[in-house]
Formats: sequence, structure tokens, C-alpha cells
Amino acid sequence: MAKRELTDTILQQKFDELERKNKESLLGGGEKRIDQQHKKGKLTARERIQLLVDEGSFEELGKFVMHRCKDFGLDKEYYLGDGVVTGFGTVNGRLVYVFSQDFTVFGGSLSETHAEKIVKLMDLAMKNGAPIIGLNDSGGARIQEGVVSLGGYADIFYRNTLASGVVPQISAIMGPCAGGAVYSPAITDFILMVENTSFMFVTGPNVVKTVTHEDVTSEELGGAMTHSTKSGVTHFACANELECIQYIKRLLSYMPQNCEDDAPRLPYTPGDESRPKLNGIIPSNPNQPYDMREVIDGIVDEGTFFEVHKTFAENIVVGFARLAGRSVGIIGNQPASLAGVLDIDASVKGARFVRFCDSFNIPLLVLEDVPGFLPGTDQEWNAIITNGAKLLYAFSEATVPRVTVITRKAYGGAYDVMNSKHIGADMNYAWPTAEIAVMGAKGAAEIIFKKDISEAADPLAKLNEKVDEYTRKFANPYRAAHRGYIDEVIYPDQTREKLIRAFQMLENKVATLPKKKHGNIPL
Ligand code: HXC
Repeated sequence: MAKRELTDTILQQKFDELERKNKESLLGGGEKRIDQQHKKGKLTARERIQLLVDEGSFEELGKFVMHRCKDFGLDKEYYLGDGVVTGFGTVNGRLVYVFSQDFTVFGGSLSETHAEKIVKLMDLAMKNGAPIIGLNDSGGARIQEGVVSLGGYADIFYRNTLASGVVPQISAIMGPCAGGAVYSPAITDFILMVENTSFMFVTGPNVVKTVTHEDVTSEELGGAMTHSTKSGVTHFACANELECIQYIKRLLSYMPQNCEDDAPRLPYTPGDESRPKLNGIIPSNPNQPYDMREVIDGIVDEGTFFEVHKTFAENIVVGFARLAGRSVGIIGNQPASLAGVLDIDASVKGARFVRFCDSFNIPLLVLEDVPGFLPGTDQEWNAIITNGAKLLYAFSEATVPRVTVITRKAYGGAYDVMNSKHIGADMNYAWPTAEIAVMGAKGAAEIIFKKDISEAADPLAKLNEKVDEYTRKFANPYRAAHRGYIDEVIYPDQTREKLIRAFQMLENKVATLPKKKHGNIPL
């Protein structure tokens, strides 16, 4: 934590210095254009790179590239670099490839040569196994160039797809991102947006008005808040560009450089790993909510939980953390939101995160308290079947070390889906408060003892008696433990220690999938 604070202070100092330099116009050349960006509350393409990479590490490529189009007056206006700064550098000493679009050159629009520069960078990143970071700020396809610009986009989309699962790809949206241009970030692993200055949409407010007669602003249609809460397109909504860059750096710290690498590990000295605070989290009433983040914070190395997709599908919590210095991906049901039920959004959010972690050798920790899948026409008509299956498929296919802790409810199909032993989890623990059953005791008693209850002299007393009977039998972890579906029933305060040991034991896990071209995840 102290280390991160230090980095943040250095970043802030750099940011202040850049602002001062800009005010004094010391950067030289193009001050007017720099001013245009600053007036919009945005940094320039080069300033963003300076904040992102380690000082003095950036090597720019293709500085002298210029556009080739001579139509619509473009034969009279040329800019070196053609609206995108590309190159490589290091972030905390680790190689990254970065492109940063320059809105001050033809609105950062993507020409044939602009695309070629990005493509060259992506090819280098794939060959050399390092993350690609795109800082997007563009009016889309360069309108004057027509189809060659569209072709340039397709060349990028193709490489985004080829690079997927090979090297991490991160997209920061720091200005407009419209039309088909949104599909490059959409294929990458993580999207970050800056509040109030960025937007993403396939068709803008004017087209929306013409086609659907809806009145909507750019911000409402595709701003950071919209995409971080409603659509889930973006994983992070950042208050400003500085925060956005800090988030990129933090994200990178949990990831390996490529699919054949392991994530960096921080030094760790074993100590007293018992965490008595965890004993007091589960309320005595099984229907009372609690915040799964408290459980996560109690288990992982202090201050290391970095939540992803925080404000979207809040009934599932996903994010990175460190356990004994090692990077882990966490997926937890969230009883504090919709009782932690699995719905379409939560399933898709969880599945995407599981697949990222599995692609990049990041072990998975599942914290389970789930009453089942959300019932209702809305869910059924919008395909909870297909979407819930995504999470099931993602877990089943994952070959990284996988550990589950059932803290309370593990009901119905959701028990199977949430990284159960049956779909390949390596170690499954349960707290004594775990309830592993087909459904809640009341619902179960009402169905299987319907006749007994209706014919009883006192139906309510009979119902309570049957609920008690069912609870004694199934609302505990021991039936599952007798079968070996649960490896051990543990006290909450032991959880951290047990997990550290489990992940150490699984460190050299080798698991392979049957030979195939690729699977067919239910998209
Ligand atoms: C060429 C462009 C441009 C573009 C902006 N500019 N977009 N030049 N091609 N796509 C230029 C403007 O002419 C202007 O030049 C300068 O950039 C700044 O633009 P402004 O409009 O003054 O800025 P602002 O008011 O901030 O508005 C930004 C904007 C708007 C919202 C992005 O420019 C806009 O709507 N642009 C068009 C967006 C668009 O429809 N793009 C095509 C999307 S379809 P001067 O010389 O006046 O400074 C697409 C297909 C991709 O991208 C397909 C992939 C499959």
C-alpha cells in the first residue's frame, strides 16, 4: 500500500509539473493545439504517455509518418506522426507498447497511415510478448480517406482478435470513440473511461434522434457513467485522466506480460495468518445481507483488492488481489446486492473475468453465497439460460488453480456453476455456516411436504417442523463434505492460511483440455 501511495505521489508531481510547463508554454510548438485539449479538461497524447511510462523510457516509432490522401484539401495540410503517437517504454520496469491518439490532428481520426502505425505496434507486441495499451481520443475513421480508413480499422480489429489471450490489451477512452471504432476497445481485455470527457457509441445522438426519435445527450447515451453502470461496456469510470492512468498502472501490476508468463509476485514474509475478524461477518439470520468485500479484505494481503467492474452487476464482485504476494483473481457473490443472486449481467461479468484470468495464468478464488439464478420473464426472455451457461462454461474450461470457499448459501444450479468440484475446482472449502442444497429450506419443505402440510391440523406448525427437518439435513456443509465435494469445513478465521497453503500446493498445477480447434462458448 505504501508503495502504491508513493507511486501516486510521484505521478501527481509529474502531472503538476506538466500543467506548469504547459501554462508557461515550455513544451514548444503547437501550444494552441495543446491549449485546445486543456480547455476541454483533456491532456495531450504525449502528456498521457509521459504520465504512463517510467521517466525517460519511451521510444517513439514512426514520428515522421504522414498521411497519403490528397483529397478534400488534405494535400495542403500535413502533420508529422499523422495523429497518433506510438512506441514502447516501461511501466514499473516492465515493457509495454503504447499508442496514444492526438485529437488535435484531424480530430485524432484514423487514416490509412495512422492505422499502419498501430498495426506495426501490435505486431511487435505479439512477437515480443508485452501488453498493448491504447489511449483513444479520436473522431473515428478519417472521413476524407473513405474505404482505406475503414480497412485500417479492420486491420486493427483483426490483430486485437489475434492478440486476445496472447498479451493483455487495455483500452483507455479519453475522448470520443464512435462508430465502428468502438469495436477495437470492445475486443480488448479492459476498458477505462474518463467521466465527462469521453464517450463511446455505435451511433451518436443525432442518428438516434432521426431513427428512434429519442432525445439523448452524448453523456447519457455513451458516457463513462452509462457504460460503467448500465451496459457494462467499460470496466472503470475514472474521475479524471490522472486517475485513469493510475488505474492502468495498477491493473498491469496484477498481470503477466503474456500468456506464457506468470504475474509479478511481491515479497511476502509468513506471519500470523489467522483473521479473527472474519468470524463476525456472517449474520445469524441467514436472510440478512453482508458485504462480501469485507470477506475479501479480510482474506487477502492488506489493501490489495482492486475491484473491476465495480458499479455494474453489483450482485457479483470481481477483481484482483494478492495472497501472500501472489496475484489472484477473485469472483464473489455479493449478498448485499439482490441477495447475491446470479442474473444475466452477473453471469456475463463473472465469465469474462474468469476467462481473462485463465488466459493469463492468474489463479482463481471463488467466494460463494448464492441463493440461485434470478427468476422472472425478464431474465428468461433475455436468455438467462445462454448467459448463465457462459459462467458455467468459463469455469469448466479454466485450467488455472481454482479454489472455492462457500461462506453461506450454495443453492441449486448456482452451486454447480460457482466453481464446484464437479466442474474442475481443485480445492473446495466451506465455512460451518454453509448451506448446500437444491433450494432454501422453506421452499423445499413447501414442495416436498405439500400434502402433509395441507392435511395437518395446524399447517403452519407442520411447515415449520418440515423446514427444521430439511434444514438439519441440508442447510449445512456436512452432507457435501461426506461425499468429498467439500475438502474441508474450516472456521472463517482460518481461511487466509488455508488459502495460502492451497494455492502454494497448486502452484505447479498442470491441466490440459481435450484436443480441439476451439470450444464454442454459448455466446
Ligand atoms: C476527419 C475529423 C473527423 C473525422 C473530427 N475531425 N472527426 N476529420 N475525419 N472522422 C476534425 C474536424 O473536422 C475538426 O477539424 C477537428 O477534427 C476537431 O473536430 P470538432 O468537430 O471541431 O471537435 P468536437 O466539437 O470536439 O467534436 C468531436 C466529434 C466530432 C464529436 C468527434 O468531430 C464528430 O462528430 N466527428 C465525426 C465523427 C464520426 O462520425 N466519425 C466517423 C464514425 S464512423 P478542424 O480542421 O475544424 O479543426 C467510423 C467508422 C469506423 O469511425 C468503422 C470501423 C469499422
